[in-house]
Amino acid sequence: MTRIAIFASGSGSNAEKITQHFENNDQIEVSLILTNNPKAYVLERAKNLHVPAVTFNRDELRNTNKVLDILKEHQIDFVVLAGFLLLVPENLVEAYPDRIINIHPALLPKFGGKGMYGDKVHQAVKSAGELETGISIHYVNNKYDEGEIIFQAKCPVTEEDTPETVADKVHQLEYQHYPQVIESVINNSIKNL
Ligand code: GAR
Repeated sequence: MTRIAIFASGSGSNAEKITQHFENNDQIEVSLILTNNPKAYVLERAKNLHVPAVTFNRDELRNTNKVLDILKEHQIDFVVLAGFLLLVPENLVEAYPDRIINIHPALLPKFGGKGMYGDKVHQAVKSAGELETGISIHYVNNKYDEGEIIFQAKCPVTEEDTPETVADKVHQLEYQHYPQVIESVINNSIKNL
């Protein structure tokens, strides 16, 4: 059994889709949801999905082993970021080499980096007059949005689009691809062990 932990800072709609995707899988499960935001709606979703959830703060993440200890306690094998706002610290990256992946709501290397999160990304895409955007799924290293890209998918941006409609299109791409890409990465990495 491969046990996934999902980190999310906000609504958690991706966390929900990913959890549901693995519900009938007897090899892979979402075992834990973690958030740095005690008010995040993802905590409500975790409750409804019957997945244990844990909250931590930025200081605990950066300066202590609390989060790593929680992952070990829950025997987590693989970490998925889904709308997670904070930088993943070195101790986690080292403990999970090539075992942490993130989704970014644009076509990296464009529109990535610190502070490029959620709607800010879609606003920047619109202001730059881009004709397309999309999603980038990538391995996580200790810099924002710079790890090796695993998968990208694109959608058009029209003149009529607003940052909100772009966000909707991108979310649909995320729901369509992220659970499946997570499954492939896990299955391939098991084969390569
Ligand atoms: C998603 O679109 C995700 O790609 C993005 O935040 C949104 C979270 O939505 N992540 C980033 O911007 C990371 N830099 P959700 O909470 O409903 O899954």
